[in-house]
Amino acid sequence: MPTYVTTPIYYVNAMPHLGHAYTTIVTDTYSRFRRLYGDDVRFQTGTDEHGEKIAEAAAKQDVSPREYVDEISAAFQATWPTLDIEQDYTIRTTDPDHIKTVQDILQQVYDNGDIYFSEYSGHYCQGCERFLTEKELVEGKCPDHQVAPKLISEQNYFFKMSKYQDWLIEHIKANPEYITPERYRNEVLSFLSEPLEDLCISRPTSRLTWGIPLPFDDTFVTYVWFDALINYLTGIGYPDGPDFEKYWAVAEHVIAKDILKPHAIYWPTMIQAMGLPPYKRLHVHGYWNVDETKMSKSIGNVVRPKELIEEYGVDAMRYFVLRDMSFGLDSSFSSEAIVARQNSDLANDLGNLFSRSLTMIVKYAEGKIPAYDTAAGSEADEELIQALEKMLISYETNMAGFAFHKALQAVWEVIGLLNRYIVANAPWEIAKDETQTARLNNVLYCLAEALRIITLVVQPVMPAAAKKMAEALGLGVTLAQQTLPEAGQWGKSVAGTPIAPPKQLFPRLDKKKDGGQKQAQKTQQQQSKKKAQQEPSNDGLVTFEAFGKFELRVAEIIAAEKIPKADRLLKLTVNAPEERTIVAGIAEHYSPEELVGLRVIIVANLKPAKLRGVLSQGMVLAAKQKMEDGTEKLVLSTVAGDIAPGSRVA
Ligand code: MSP
Repeated sequence: MPTYVTTPIYYVNAMPHLGHAYTTIVTDTYSRFRRLYGDDVRFQTGTDEHGEKIAEAAAKQDVSPREYVDEISAAFQATWPTLDIEQDYTIRTTDPDHIKTVQDILQQVYDNGDIYFSEYSGHYCQGCERFLTEKELVEGKCPDHQVAPKLISEQNYFFKMSKYQDWLIEHIKANPEYITPERYRNEVLSFLSEPLEDLCISRPTSRLTWGIPLPFDDTFVTYVWFDALINYLTGIGYPDGPDFEKYWAVAEHVIAKDILKPHAIYWPTMIQAMGLPPYKRLHVHGYWNVDETKMSKSIGNVVRPKELIEEYGVDAMRYFVLRDMSFGLDSSFSSEAIVARQNSDLANDLGNLFSRSLTMIVKYAEGKIPAYDTAAGSEADEELIQALEKMLISYETNMAGFAFHKALQAVWEVIGLLNRYIVANAPWEIAKDETQTARLNNVLYCLAEALRIITLVVQPVMPAAAKKMAEALGLGVTLAQQTLPEAGQWGKSVAGTPIAPPKQLFPRLDKKKDGGQKQAQKTQQQQSKKKAQQEPSNDGLVTFEAFGKFELRVAEIIAAEKIPKADRLLKLTVNAPEERTIVAGIAEHYSPEELVGLRVIIVANLKPAKLRGVLSQGMVLAAKQKMEDGTEKLVLSTVAGDIAPGSRVA
């Protein structure tokens, strides 16, 4: 099946920022997802290089528009590979073949009688590069750009957009998927409930020369939107290229809500006037704000993709934007939010699962994927297989519907299940019993096999991490050739395949510099204030109130590692429910790999202390038993039922 998906073509009056990056990451992810399902995909992005805004920006820098657009369009093109974006075609509206196509279309629509000459007076917003209706103004200003539009009266050419209004309403009503999410479809239908004005499609050359001349009157250039929207046709070889035939009927456009009207109203009516079938779908997303505020140059909070990649890495950035934004709604970017996702979803959940599983295959199966022995199969294995099947269904539906956050949620549910599967099946325990080798191999096989399928599904979102995972699992070279309907079936891992644990899939990041310490100081102050009340009374008994001062909580261990040169100590990272580090003297009793996933009891308000250079924020409780040989056996206090990390123990 062919898929054709486009981003907007970005104005070259500003350098790429998080908003441009988001739309392009979404489109890239969708393209990769479609390829994974065997589609023949064409993914196009590009730059919009004509119009008043660009001419003014060039004049400000005292360079010619041509020099100016070359520079910024190159900056956009250089950004995409750094975000692991692989478009098939990059269009520029200054490309000669695009200019020719725009002129041919103008001539055709003019010849058909759908373009006429008239006088017009209206409110022109330069930021939007269009005339706004009275109704769109808020207190006399453009609501998007917060400036009063210029009142312009001039003679111009007009496109008979109103002629196609009824057709458009019918088309949107008959095709519920034409504009999604639904809120934008409703917005468009509501706008169309009022009579539509015709569209002014020219600018006199006395006012603007940086545009495509009208073929039937060279004292005018075409309006920037008429020029820009046509990129979606020229990029695939309209009118007679073979790619046009193949892709046009399936065209899907991805945009943000700022350019809904040109895409949902101007564009379909223009296409109709050309005698072409409508595009297939329009996917509309919300805005990225920063710390709840609109991104803006004047506030100085514009987030650049380059900075994000340097700080967090491309996988974390792609994962974060897709996981955190509900497609269609606005979202707020903050460094705390991305660090939290990186540490919890990537480093802890997926990263730990991956490295623990592969390390165990090295340790207990000589580094090769063992064979699965059906005779030793278990209910837990069955449950896992069914959970993966269910996840694949949800993944496909949600990715196809642009609900990326839901698709990822489904994948991470299985990752959680796998972490619990390890704890429940305790390979380190069965490894001690030689009669259980078949069972041990089955557990290791299931882990490798589930991770293979997870590698496939995360590939559209994090291509670089998936590549590392595929290599570690011995699938490297074949990853790109696999399609999910085939490769997603359980049981494709080949016994005997050598695996190689990667160094670290996702590094853990530090939280905001002083966040943890401030909290620790505050706790300390509160504690010293109330110290007197906490002292045990003389008879060695504590009062109920004094006991109540101890904050005991359930904590989930999410990472565990040895502390160099400290034989007894392990560094634990726990969720309680916030993340903290605890140093525990349990290294002689537990190996790090068997701890992850355990829910233990901690003293949460113990005064933080540094042990071997590691800040320990609490204490893990354990039972101690004196053995006959004088040694001590130590067993961690865990909770019997399923209870959320952070729950108080009283
Ligand atoms: N040139 C026109 C589009 C012509 S398409 C035929 C244009 N360019 S733009 O540079 O202003 O890009 C707008 C698009 O950039 C949005 O629709 C969206 O895809 C992306 N974003 C810009 N700022 C954004 C946010 N703050 N948040 C999310 N996406 C945003 O309009």
